[in-house]
Amino acid sequence: MKNIQVDIKNALPFIGKDNFEKYEKLVKVQNKNLMNKTGKGNDFLGWLNLPEAIPQNLIDDINVTAKKLKEKSEVIVVVGIGGSYLGAKAVIESLNDNFHQYKHDTKKNRILFAGQNLSEDYHSELLEYLKDKPFSIIVISKSGTTTEPAIAFRLLRKNLEDKVGKAEASKRIVAITDASKGALRNLADQEGYKSFVIDDDIGGRYSVLTPVGLLPIACSGHNIQNLIDGAVSMLKLSQDGNFNTNPVYQYSAIRHALYCKNKTTEILANYNPKLNFISEWWKQLFGESEGKENKGIFTASVSFTTDLHSLGQYIQEGLRNIFETVISVEKTKSNLQITSDEDNFDKLNYLANKKIGHINKMAELGATLAHLDGNVPNIRITIPEINEFYIGQLLYFFEKSCAISGYLLGINPFNQPGVEAYKKNMFALLEKPGFEEETNNIRKRINK
Ligand code: PA5
Repeated sequence: MKNIQVDIKNALPFIGKDNFEKYEKLVKVQNKNLMNKTGKGNDFLGWLNLPEAIPQNLIDDINVTAKKLKEKSEVIVVVGIGGSYLGAKAVIESLNDNFHQYKHDTKKNRILFAGQNLSEDYHSELLEYLKDKPFSIIVISKSGTTTEPAIAFRLLRKNLEDKVGKAEASKRIVAITDASKGALRNLADQEGYKSFVIDDDIGGRYSVLTPVGLLPIACSGHNIQNLIDGAVSMLKLSQDGNFNTNPVYQYSAIRHALYCKNKTTEILANYNPKLNFISEWWKQLFGESEGKENKGIFTASVSFTTDLHSLGQYIQEGLRNIFETVISVEKTKSNLQITSDEDNFDKLNYLANKKIGHINKMAELGATLAHLDGNVPNIRITIPEINEFYIGQLLYFFEKSCAISGYLLGINPFNQPGVEAYKKNMFALLEKPGFEEETNNIRKRINK
């Protein structure tokens, strides 16, 4: 059986083979710290053995809950932000048909997302869309107090209660939150919502394999058992003691080695737009985990070939502080060839009978070589095909690589103290009770 592979041969020349060899020891030390729970943030390691530890009755409960929600509704609105949003969105988008939204047979059980922004237009247009449709809500917040999802949930809950009555609404709302703390837990208990718990030792961006990700993914009709099986298989692969064949060792070591050579921006590239939200999830995972103490690789993403016609120019000739990590999908789901044309006005007959996937592969190879010529190191992550199993492998591969990368950097990859700064200012500006002093200070600051 094939697995995800990491190829660093086009990055090694930027480090030097001898220089890279010293990373074997460094990575193994950090892996030990992680596995023995002796590193920073060791109270947030619930995700580490999670794939193997998910109880069967939880998986069954998630599948039964998804079925019930689907029976009751045409649309399921998933409310959450950050780690309580991106994992589910990434997996669903990667597995769905590109034109899922427009297909008649999938009109039922559409999954929409809310609570991930504060746009008035977004919320108002969402409520307008839901006006004549039976819908359900999955509200996700570990803390139970995050402003964006709280606002979206308040609007949606009122709308649902007005439409179907409080009793029926409470059957169409599922809450995923802390076991005992937070406003959402209190509300869920008081209203009798079906609820799932996010364990204390699993942070938001590492929570995709908890009900946070699994329930919305199950609602979208994808097989969560296969996703978990993929993660389990990567968990095992990541225990390989051989530095040269362990994908997690290779990726975390090479990106840290590149960072030490002033390659401070990593661009995650794909050649399949279904993976665009995997990139969004990845950006959060690594960016929020590593960007601390004035250190960390800045995470960016591109979707090729689309962005070869935009950011491709920067990658080729801009500041040389970047490296590229390409997610390369080996096998396409479809089989579509270029047809031959008698007139050949478009001069494309040289491509006749070639698969589009082959042309895409040549674009990938051509771009990689061009970027290498432009001094952009390249890491290649090959995934055999896009399905639940390999997406599960990919998720766990990135999670564990992120933890080891963070430890190599010397930071705690499991907290996010920096996200509080904007909240304090926003609460001060909105005159939230308890923020009176901050309100006075910020007023003085902006009225200067
Ligand atoms: O990774 C994280 O911890 C964050 O991105 C959180 O997921 C995000 O801030 C949402 O938090 P909560 O689930 O508490 O609403």
